[in-house]
Formats: sequence, structure tokens, C-alpha cells
Amino acid sequence: MADKKFSVVVAGGGSTFTPGIILMLLSHQERFPLRKIKLYDNDAARQKIIADAMEIILKERAPEIEFLATTDPSQAFSDVDFVMAHIRVGKYAMRELDEKIPLKYGVVGQETCGPGGIAYGMRSIGGIVEIVGYMEKYSPNAWMLNYSNPAAIVAEATRRLCPNSKIINICDMPVDIEEKMAQIAGFKSLHDLEFKYFGLNHFGWWTSIKDKQGNELLPKIREYVYKHGYNLKYLHGDEGVQHIDPSWIVTFEMVKEFAPIDPDTLPNTYLKYYLCQDEIVKHSDPNHTRTNEVVEGREKKVFAECRRIKSVGTAKDTTIEVDAHASFIVDLATAIAFNTKANMLLIVENKGAISNFDPTAMVEIPCIVGNNGPEPLVVGEIPRFQKGLMEQQVAVEKLTVDAWINHSYQSLWQALTLSKTVPSARVAKLILDDLIAANKDFWPELK
Ligand code: NAD
Ligand code: G6P
Ligand code: MN
Repeated sequence: MADKKFSVVVAGGGSTFTPGIILMLLSHQERFPLRKIKLYDNDAARQKIIADAMEIILKERAPEIEFLATTDPSQAFSDVDFVMAHIRVGKYAMRELDEKIPLKYGVVGQETCGPGGIAYGMRSIGGIVEIVGYMEKYSPNAWMLNYSNPAAIVAEATRRLCPNSKIINICDMPVDIEEKMAQIAGFKSLHDLEFKYFGLNHFGWWTSIKDKQGNELLPKIREYVYKHGYNLKYLHGDEGVQHIDPSWIVTFEMVKEFAPIDPDTLPNTYLKYYLCQDEIVKHSDPNHTRTNEVVEGREKKVFAECRRIKSVGTAKDTTIEVDAHASFIVDLATAIAFNTKANMLLIVENKGAISNFDPTAMVEIPCIVGNNGPEPLVVGEIPRFQKGLMEQQVAVEKLTVDAWINHSYQSLWQALTLSKTVPSARVAKLILDDLIAANKDFWPELK
């Protein structure tokens, strides 16, 4: 495959992340050369604004790459090697309800965690399974690299519904935190270090962070994290390009409050929703949530810039930045395309990698990636504290998929009740009934 050039379709072409990812792909042409980039979305008007600007960028920077934006699955999914999927079924209007409905009852309102994540999962499953179907119909040899959320529930659903499909689910949060850990430890990049990590998506822990000489750096990084979380402000004031909104800075800082509960590990930021749920709710504004911040910030900025590029007819002076830490998507694609055997954290079926945990659970663990996809590395036994939390959370995820497949009200009520973010079966039912009414256009009808 040495001189092979690849064809990629970005599913969810109208996403706020599409421009940054296209620029990222262009900046990696020497290692992941492209002959075609296609955008696919089911909202033609939204995608067109992004696509018009991407067409100009490609003409100016890589005219040899063919470009097409379409809502037609046969055009989008024919002749592709990789499907890079970041769809949001129900868009920001539904995400806003995922956040605001639980908050009405004093429960965490979040995109991927707690009742909001469950609601989003019930919308995403159908959309993702449809895209896997298109890929298999029009390009049966292609791989789908999915980072559509909630990745944990999507991964469990595709494990059950598309067991033989070439789909890999991945998240950028650990990559971003590892980048921060490298800086805290005085290294240039996460590639200078070796990480051990286990958990579920948005629910995991680092157990070892070593330099290439084998020196254990976790205690040194822990010292910083217990003072400042993963917030780099105290190091050099520069927070990078993604995850820089004020609420993200608070998230990184907050890690200092719950990290000390287990001195042997360092946690993923998302654990704050399960370990500091009362404080999160206390500091949430039920009338202005993360969706409002994104709509007034990232979405507005990205779409205004794309419209500007189209109106001036050039992107020479664009403010759109390369989504630098999305380069893990290229790492993954090149690992498959060129059999690089890269070590990457992916969401895969446990199958004994964590020896004292459900073999059918979708876990986030280090894998070696080659042209047959990911091969999980052995994790071994995990401690009781994390195991207890993970068993509860994986049950939430499995019950949600049960509910979607069997159209079961009971399973979904159980899923909500089991979420560590929800105080009782009564509150779970109140939230569920509101979510059902809000999601009537997206969820299967529950019996
Ligand atoms: P967005 O709403 O801006 O973009 C999503 C796009 O998907 C929209 O244009 C929408 O029309 C389209 N879409 C919805 N349903 C579709 C379907 N069935 N078929 C085709 N297209 C469909 O959202 P965003 O904030 O840019 O985020 C996009 C996705 O990426 C979300 O799922 C988000 O959670 C995810 N994300 C994941 C990670 C990760 O670490 N895994 C990181 C960043 C973003
Ligand atoms: C992190 C998570 C993603 C999440 C993203 C965007 O990168 O890993 O799963 O979708 O944040 O969150 P935001 O609130 O900025 O839309
Ligand atoms: Mn994620």
C-alpha cells in the first residue's frame, strides 16, 4: 500500500468539528495521503455552509484531492476506504433537552453522562447502525472510525447489532489529557510517554505513565494534579486550541477534588459527573447549559467563518485552526492502512483483557492496531473501587441498548435508576417520562 491514496467520507459533514478535521487531514498528507474527501449529512442546508468553505480550502491547498458533499448515501459511501463518523442525531436542540430535563429534577445534565447520555444513546443507535449499513452496502471493505457520541452506548449497540462490522469507536478525551500529562511532566508530546489505562468510555483511570527509559512519572504528575487538576494555566498559561471554554477549564481543575480518592491512579475528567454529582448540579444553571455555550461559541464561530470564506472566495486568511489533537484519527487510519501496530486507547470488547470484568463489556483499553483492526492488550485485574463503579455503569449502558432493541420502558427505567447520577427510582421515572415526550420523533416507541 506504499503509494496508495485513500478515499474518506466524513459522516456528519455539517458538524462543527468538520473544518478542523479536514485541515488536520490536509496537514498529514505525507503519512495519510488522500485522493478523495467526501462529506455526508442528512441536513443538506447545514452541511452546505461547511462544504462550500471546504471546497475553497481544498482548491487552494490540495487541488489534487477530489471533493464532494452529498446527502445521497450511494454517492457518499461508494468507493471509500474509511468512514469517519461524527453525527449528532437530534442536533443541539435535542442535546439542550438532554441537559435541561435532568437538571429540572436536580440531576446532572450532560451530553454523554447520566440521563442525558442515555437519551442521546437512544437517538444515536439508529443513526449509526444506518451508516454502518450504507458502508457495508457500498464499500464492504471500508473501516468506520466512529467518534459520534455517546461512544460507550454506540459501541455496545454496534457490538450487538453489527457484530461482524469493521467499526472502531474512539474518544479524544484521554488523548487530550495525556497531552497535558506530558507537559506537566516536562515532555514535548504524549508520544514521548507510555501510558497504561483502563475503564469504560468517559469513565477510566491511568495506572502508569512512563518515559521511554521506563521511569514511572505518575507520582510526579499526581503532585501537580492534586494542586491544579489537569489545568495547565499554572504551568504556562496556554491551554491549547480545543477544550478551552471556561467550563472546560473548570472541568480540568475540578479533577483535583476527586483524584485523591485513589492515589494509585489518575482519573478521566468525565468521572466528575459520577463522583461530584451534587456539586456539579449546584453549580449548573438549568437555563443555560453547555449546549447554549457551544451554540453561542463554537457553532456560531465555525459557521460564520465558513460563510465568510464562501463570500470572499478564499480561505487564505482563515481563522479556522487545524484540530491538532484530532490527529489520533489519522494515527488510527494509518495504523489500519499501513499496519503500523500503533498502541492506541480504543473502545473494544473486553474478552478477558480485564480479567475480573464482564467479557462482553465494551471497555476503553490500550490496543495494538494493525490492518486487522485492534488487538487489546492484557490489563489483568482491576481494583474493587473502580470495578464497582464500572459494573454499575456498564449495566446502565447495556440496559439502554436492551431498551432500544426490545422497545422496553422497563429496561430504560432500570438504566436511569442504576446511573450513579440519579438518586432514586422515583426521580428516574420522572426524568424518563419527560425524556420520552421530548424524544418522540427519535426513540422507538417504548412498551
Ligand atoms: P453538530 O450538531 O455540529 O454536527 C453533527 C452533524 O451530524 C449535523 O450536521 C447533523 O445534521 C448530522 N447528523 C445528525 N444525524 C445524522 C444522521 N442520521 N446521518 C447523517 N448526519 C446526521 O455536532 P458537534 O458538536 O460538531 O459534534 C458531532 C459529534 O461528534 C457528536 O456526536 C459529538 O458528541 C462527537 N464528538 C465526539 C468526540 C469524541 O471524543 N468521541 C469529540 C468531539 C465530538
Ligand atoms: C470531549 C469528549 C467528547 C465530547 C467533546 C465535545 O472531546 O471526549 O466526547 O463530545 O468533548 O464537547 P463539547 O461540550 O465541547 O461539545
Ligand atoms: Mn469522548
